[in-house]
Amino acid sequence: MAKNIFTQENFAKLDEVIAEHKGQKGALMPILHEAQKIFGCVPLEVQKRISEALNMPMAEIYGVVTFYTQFTLEPKGDYVIGVCLGTACYVKGAQKIIDKIKELAKVEVDGTSADGKFSLVATRCIGACGLAPVLTVNEDVYGRLVESDVPGILAKY
Ligand code: FES
Repeated sequence: MAKNIFTQENFAKLDEVIAEHKGQKGALMPILHEAQKIFGCVPLEVQKRISEALNMPMAEIYGVVTFYTQFTLEPKGDYVIGVCLGTACYVKGAQKIIDKIKELAKVEVDGTSADGKFSLVATRCIGACGLAPVLTVNEDVYGRLVESDVPGILAKY
């Protein structure tokens, strides 16, 4: 990704956020949320800064960042497409939906398209099994999908 996210300005914002939360119980989560917003992701360089400021081991921070899907190690695209691969969705053909998105948006699972427009992630059950198979684009939810719905959905973005 060409855009430099490691600007002094971004790190200064991060330092402010850290200063605000430091010393509070459970400070890590809100700091990571803000970091994700500021940088568009929480890469190792950012984790290192947080680790030093909070005096918390890198491994612990890395564990949290990689556990929660709202945090990413690399910048996400403008639109994040999540395809549910929970059991109900999987049984109803979620894999075919993923394959179609990969083909049309030119994006790999856990990757971002070269133009920075779409990222694709496979998610766990999002609790809309009645609508299986389900996909989300940022905040929008689409259900009862068939492969031929994919072009129309992508065209909206
Ligand atoms: S399995 Fe996809 S919403 Fe539940």
